[in-house]
Amino acid sequence: MNPVIEVKGLSKVFKVYEKKKGIVNILQNLIFPRCKEIVAVNNLDFTINKGEIVGYIGPNGAGKSTTIKMLTGVLVPSAGKLTVCDSIPYKNRIKNAMKIGVVFGQKSQLWWDVPVIESYRLLKELYKIDDRQFEKNLSLYSEILDIKNLMHTPVRQLSLGQRMRCDLAASLFHDPEVLFLDEPTIGLDVGVKEKLRAFIKEINAEKKITVILTTHDMKDVEELCSRIIIINNGEKIYDGDLNTVKKKYISHRILKVEFGNNISSLHIPCLEIIREEDNIKWFRFDHRKNSVADIIKNLFTQYSIIDFATTDPGIEEVVKKIC
Ligand SMILES: Nc1ncnc2c1ncn2[C@@H]1O[C@H](COP(=O)(O)OP(=O)(O)OP(=O)(O)O)[C@@H](O)[C@H]1O
Ligand SMILES: [Mg+2]
Repeated sequence: MNPVIEVKGLSKVFKVYEKKKGIVNILQNLIFPRCKEIVAVNNLDFTINKGEIVGYIGPNGAGKSTTIKMLTGVLVPSAGKLTVCDSIPYKNRIKNAMKIGVVFGQKSQLWWDVPVIESYRLLKELYKIDDRQFEKNLSLYSEILDIKNLMHTPVRQLSLGQRMRCDLAASLFHDPEVLFLDEPTIGLDVGVKEKLRAFIKEINAEKKITVILTTHDMKDVEELCSRIIIINNGEKIYDGDLNTVKKKYISHRILKVEFGNNISSLHIPCLEIIREEDNIKWFRFDHRKNSVADIIKNLFTQYSIIDFATTDPGIEEVVKKIC
């Protein structure tokens, strides 16, 4: 294995000054400032290998963005060691910038008042990208991200979905080895989300770019990541593959059944009804205690069934359960 990111005992503590409100406290705030410490990231260890797509997930305030900021050299850790592509991000910021691409969904990296193509040309100069590489990537990303007709529009006039596609292209012109995506699909409609996911899959497969993705959209994780790291209160609570964690923490599955006629009551005790719409009903059952085959056999002998399907509740349930 070839690690591109190595993190050992990584912590980040923010010091914030608490101000007492009111005119009488102005002087006290100045002379005796009260300081509070926030442990955003606490003693993290992980290694990420070349070519992986890792979902970095957890609830609001878990420490995901703080970790990404340390890995990208924006923040200096309070303790611990970290290397990204063999350099220490906050010490070698320029060297690190050349090897990584970053997209923060909440904030554009592009120049607000400048047409998209001009932003790209500025990046070309900043990253010292040669003409051939620039033209090749420009035509590739214009095509697959469908941004050809946005090139002459100032960034401030782009919709969120258009801006995200342009931002994603911008992060990749210099052919980075690692791509950090902090909530890249936030606020986007289903169609644009699909486009971005397909694009991430493609560049990972074609260019072997390692991707670290934070998201609250579990469909991003399910579709893209074979490995997830879950953090809560700054601490790592799971690192492994998606299916193992689902099996471990999810005891129930959902069964959707379309009945041939409207049934008023059902006599299968292990099925708990959770939703109904005309002749379609959704049930919840404990798949560790009851096999799907037995349930289906039981249903077919007692009722007229048109269709059925089982699904699992998804990684969202896992995060809710263990955080
Ligand atoms: N610059 C800062 N100064 C003080 N506290 C901060 C700072 N940045 C983050 N924090 C605190 O650190 C903790 C972790 O924040 P972080 O932004 O890393 O969370 P997150 O997992 O990215 O959350 P979200 O899912 O909401 O984006 C939070 O309690 C946050 O308030
Ligand atoms: Mg965040």
